[in-house]
Formats: sequence, structure tokens, C-alpha cells
Amino acid sequence: MDNRDLREQNRLSWNAAVGAHDSHRGDLAGFLREGGSTLFPEEIELLGDLGGKTLVHLQCNYGGDTLSLAQLGAAVIGVDISDEAILYARRLSAEAGIPADFVRADVYDWLEGAACAERRFDLVFSSYGITCWLPDLETWARRIAAILEPGGRFVLVDFHPAAEVFDEHWSHAHAYPSGGEPRLLREGVGDYVGTSGGGLTPAGFVEGTSNFENPHQSHLFRWGLGEVVTALAGAGLRIVALEEYPYSNGERFSARMRELPGRRMFPPEGVPAVPLMYGLSAEKVNHR
Ligand SMILES: C[S@@+](CC[C@H](N)C(=O)[O-])C[C@H]1O[C@@H](n2cnc3c(N)ncnc32)[C@H](O)[C@@H]1O
Repeated sequence: MDNRDLREQNRLSWNAAVGAHDSHRGDLAGFLREGGSTLFPEEIELLGDLGGKTLVHLQCNYGGDTLSLAQLGAAVIGVDISDEAILYARRLSAEAGIPADFVRADVYDWLEGAACAERRFDLVFSSYGITCWLPDLETWARRIAAILEPGGRFVLVDFHPAAEVFDEHWSHAHAYPSGGEPRLLREGVGDYVGTSGGGLTPAGFVEGTSNFENPHQSHLFRWGLGEVVTALAGAGLRIVALEEYPYSNGERFSARMRELPGRRMFPPEGVPAVPLMYGLSAEKVNHR
């Protein structure tokens, strides 16, 4: 693993996009203050009871989910590489009156530092657009395992790599992702909150920024589902659940997706079911 220069370019690309995303979210602080949640049922079920648990939310972005996890009783730390996302998250925490610790750091660095300091957590969580930013799954998985308490769990909910084989017409146009193959996104991180048209804004959708153009390109890494699971298993984590879902929560991969209740986005009528999202829970085995 290195690719630090690529990860730093991603930081710039995310920094540029946060304001556009924010412009669509409405009064999220008020929504959270009144007990609203940005979480979807899939991650809530996989995480289980959070009362009294310690939890690290990796790649937490704007912090809405981190604060929603805190509302469920966990003591939370949110970690993200983007300066702007962490500034937004800290402001949201203060305005919503929900305490949480937000740290700006590269996920690899933060995990290494926490492991060296012998910090341990009951849960590590990450969701919705995660592994595509990681150039090295084995190091990531090993460092997550290192900071879990024995019996602690890593919960991941992410977009399914199978979704990446389709073009906007739902034709099988691209190879299934594998090997962390780098993919340059010349247009950088886009305004996916705007194009979701309300799918990612539970506090209400605001028109906000239109025609957002990101001046910074970004770099993705294409992994298959088997590679993610194998990395976690290889780090000594026992897979206790692996779910696949034929819809994506909130995010529209293409304009023709059908929105069903619960902000679930399905392919257009006539496209046979295919997994668009997966969730897993992996436990650190308690060696005696
Ligand atoms: C699609 S977002 C994840 C969505 C997020 N869970 C949410 O609730 O909105 C991906 C996040 O990964 C972060 N990221 C990308 N590369 C990273 C890295 N190397 N270390 C830490 N965070 C990173 C980005 O800044 C971005 O906030």
C-alpha cells in the first residue's frame, strides 16, 4: 500500500464537493435535534443494540450517520480524510446538540495510530461508498481487526460491485471489479446528493447548488465482493452475516431508477433483480 498522493488528491476532490452536498440538506441539525435519523434499517439491524457501546465510524463524511449512531446510545468517533466534511460534521454536532468526536485523518493513518496506542472499540462501522476509496484491503482489514475488542464487530454496508457492470441503460457494459484496479474519475466527486433528488436528504430536499463542477479529479479502486470478504477473514474476523439487497438506499446510480418506499432505489421495470448493495458483520474471535 501506498498511493498516498492519490489519497491526498481524493481529499481535495472531497473538500470541493462537500459544500454542494450540504446545499441540499435543509435543516439537518433541527431534524437530528428532534430525534430524526439519517440511518437506514439495514445498518441498524446489522449493528444491533448500541447502548453503552464504543463505536468508530470510518469515512464518516458529513457526520449525519455518526450523530444518528450517537442518538442510539453509542459513544462515537467519526474519522474522515476531508477537512470540509469534518468541519461540517463538527458544526452539525454543535448545532444538533449531539456530542461526538470528529477527527480529520486518512483512514490508514488513524487506524495505525489507534492500534499503536492500544485503543479498542466494541464496533467499527463504515457505509455507502467505502471500499472504492481504499487502495489496499488487507492493511485496512488488519488494522480494523487490531482496534476491535475481542467479540467486537466490524459492520460494513456498501454498494455492491455488481452494480458497476451496468451502464445508464442497464446493459452489461463493464467488467466486474477486481484487484483494486485504479479508476481515474476526471470529473472528480460529483453532487450525488443533488442527483438523488431527496433520496439522501431525510430532513427535506433543497434545490441548492446546480451544475456543480469539481476542479479536482479523484481516484477509485475497483474491488470485488469476494476480495472484501477474504481480506476481513484473513485479518482474523469471523463473518457472521453477509446480506445482499436488490436496491440501493438513497442513491440513484442512473436517472431511470425507480424509488420505492423507504428511499429504496430499484432498477427500471423489466430489469431482472441484481444485488445493488450488501451488508456484512464480522466478529473478532475471542481467543482464550
Ligand atoms: C461516499 S462517502 C461515505 C458516505 C458516508 N458514510 C456518509 O454517511 O455520507 C466516502 C467518504 O470517504 C472519505 N475518504 C476517502 N478516502 C479516504 C481515506 N483515505 N481516509 C479517510 N477517509 C476517506 C471521503 O472523504 C468521503 O467522506
